[in-house]
Amino acid sequence: MNNLRSVLSVLLLLCLLPITFNSAQTRTQWQNSPDIERRVEALLKQMSLEEKVGQLNQYSYGMPTGPSTGRSAVEEAIKRGEVGSFLNVTDPALSNKLQHIAMEQSRLKIPIIFGLDVIHGYRTTFPVPLGLASTWDANLVERVSRIAAQEATASGIRWTFSPMVDIARDPRWGRIVEGAGEDPYLGSIMARAYVRGYQGETLGGSQSMAACAKHYVAYGAAEGGRDYNSVDMSERQLREVYLTPFRAAVNAGVATLMSSFNTINGVPGSANDFTLNQVLRREWNFRGFVVSDWGAVGELIPHGVANDLASATRKGFLAGVDMDMESNAYFKHLANAVKTREVPQSAVDEAVRRILRVKFALGLFDKPYVDEKNAIATLPSANVAAAREAAEKSFVLLKNEAILPIRSGVRTVALIGPLADSRADMLGAWSAQGKADDVITLRAALEARSKRDGFKLVYAKGTEIRGTSDSGFAEATAAASQADVVLLALGEDSSWMTGEAGSRAFIDLPGNQQQLLERVAATGKPTALVLFSGRPLALTQVSSKVQAIVEAWAPGVQAGPALERVLFGDASPSGRLTVTFPRSLGQVPIFHSMLNTGRPAVGLDLTRPPTNGNEKFKSRYVDEQNVPLYPFGFGLTYTSFEYSATQSSAQQTSVVELNAGRGQVRVTADVKNTGSRVGEEVVQLYIGLRGTSVARPVRELKGFQRLSLQPGESRRVEFTIGRDELAIWQSGTTYKVEPAELTIWIAPNAESGTPTKIMLK
Ligand code: NOJ
Repeated sequence: MNNLRSVLSVLLLLCLLPITFNSAQTRTQWQNSPDIERRVEALLKQMSLEEKVGQLNQYSYGMPTGPSTGRSAVEEAIKRGEVGSFLNVTDPALSNKLQHIAMEQSRLKIPIIFGLDVIHGYRTTFPVPLGLASTWDANLVERVSRIAAQEATASGIRWTFSPMVDIARDPRWGRIVEGAGEDPYLGSIMARAYVRGYQGETLGGSQSMAACAKHYVAYGAAEGGRDYNSVDMSERQLREVYLTPFRAAVNAGVATLMSSFNTINGVPGSANDFTLNQVLRREWNFRGFVVSDWGAVGELIPHGVANDLASATRKGFLAGVDMDMESNAYFKHLANAVKTREVPQSAVDEAVRRILRVKFALGLFDKPYVDEKNAIATLPSANVAAAREAAEKSFVLLKNEAILPIRSGVRTVALIGPLADSRADMLGAWSAQGKADDVITLRAALEARSKRDGFKLVYAKGTEIRGTSDSGFAEATAAASQADVVLLALGEDSSWMTGEAGSRAFIDLPGNQQQLLERVAATGKPTALVLFSGRPLALTQVSSKVQAIVEAWAPGVQAGPALERVLFGDASPSGRLTVTFPRSLGQVPIFHSMLNTGRPAVGLDLTRPPTNGNEKFKSRYVDEQNVPLYPFGFGLTYTSFEYSATQSSAQQTSVVELNAGRGQVRVTADVKNTGSRVGEEVVQLYIGLRGTSVARPVRELKGFQRLSLQPGESRRVEFTIGRDELAIWQSGTTYKVEPAELTIWIAPNAESGTPTKIMLK
């Protein structure tokens, strides 16, 4: 029997191996295809300098997504071969019209590549990326991105400016909503999932679009959380944290990257020779192309590293920015810079090669037009189930004093708040072709359910999202008073307060929503808050007043049905935080992988002044605790889980073996569903290293697994830890495992778990 089993497993492995191998290969092979290289070289030989520079320009046509600096008379420009790409063309008839000009009236017939911000869906709007990350479900994120690619390519979009893989640790920054949160390991898993979904098995597939990892790099570390602001950080932090998800995207075969607006140690991301030429090209061997962010080449002037557009052109281009988005700088100045020998001709050739390589890989030369009949005109019903599933899995239950799920047989439910029925706000920042009309709100879903289940629904808006008038409070409290349970739908508006240029200096509930919440809570009715936000909010004053909190982010077109199912227990909440929720704004930045300091402080008693030096001289606030309100990885379910202590396969292991890529540490823990409902747990693996050459984070996430467990069911979870998880950056491109004491936690979040220790000798 055992023999039969091993024969079968070998056969299975043999069948699977070539598939995984080939799949990984086809996904990246566009970079080294002899056929593509031959066609690129043949074309390059025929191009004039002006036509080469033409390929390096991108213009916005249609809805602007930045301050307009673009050019007019684009049709003539296409004929002259001056446009390599357009962004924001969403009408397939228009894209075909422009493409026909390029393919029929320009000398060399080089197709245009059309790009768009397809960030979390095209027509079918899924949860915002921070919500998608909260699912901790890479397969789901890949599926969602695949659907986005299918819908967008049907309209002629073969390039998306996604994924945003910026690590973000400051909730003030509006763009925290566009990424996967604070952690480089999770960020890398998500980066890979998006790239695989968008680019499919092969870039040449008609439903594949080139992905664009952005914003390269460290944009998420903007000082003070103010958008576009400067960044200053050590090379260690850059390499170990902020570059990590970009590297994962490059390894997954991402076709393009977008250079960022911010400075990095004084040098703007869009003029940064170190990050672009050194790290991306020389160290990582990236063979795709880099597009600047909108106007970022021109912005080298206000940054102060260029005096005029001509020097901005030289600096951006020589640093490795291949395509100029909307600065109109390369168009005006690059050819001249080549003529005056300030820019070598060979550098222009190389940039053109990179762009043509991607255009050939996408199959644009062979199939430049989109079939207008296939364009998505209405919400595709086949994709609605995926939108609901993604939303359901993205919700994070932060607090629950036994009021959720709402019990069947409830007689009256009050739904109160400005987000209960706001279709547009459910779409979230960057909704591509998402339409508010496609959204089913919480109010609509509850109305349908109230008819099915026979309860009474009372609705009151209460206030506006950023409202100051309390004229709706009386109606709201009257609604609450007659209810058995109150649902408060509060939070942020998604277009103004979140996303690009949506930084906030306060991270409380906006307007007078806190007052509304307090008035409703004063009725004494059991109250659950459904929070719609694009960032962690400081919820200390909120959580003390309500019995339950569901963080719902911006859930997309299926917001209402997904919420209604979770609130009534048809589905269980299973999301986990990928960003730390602070107790108060003053703790920011706060994230799970901080260092320990020489004077760590735990268990502070803030109710009395410190009585002696041992209590006082600590790394602490005198008026706030150090711990967050809800830690990274946290999220409740409708059941409970118990973890055994973490167990390891050995007490010590050899650093030499680990560095050779051979040694591995195996760790396990038993996880049991101790409640009475089936539930999904995200089991997380954290490590900490002591005794190393540099101080390491208290904890670093290095793995996770999603499990579904029946009531009473227990499962042994196993992880292996090797070189990739343990190596520490030394200098240049060198990483090494060092002798150390390794602590390992298999835990439900970043602040719990019973660890085991292993010596790395
Ligand atoms: C500026 C944003 O920073 C970037 O993320 C986006 O892709 C471009 N505009 C294009 O819309």
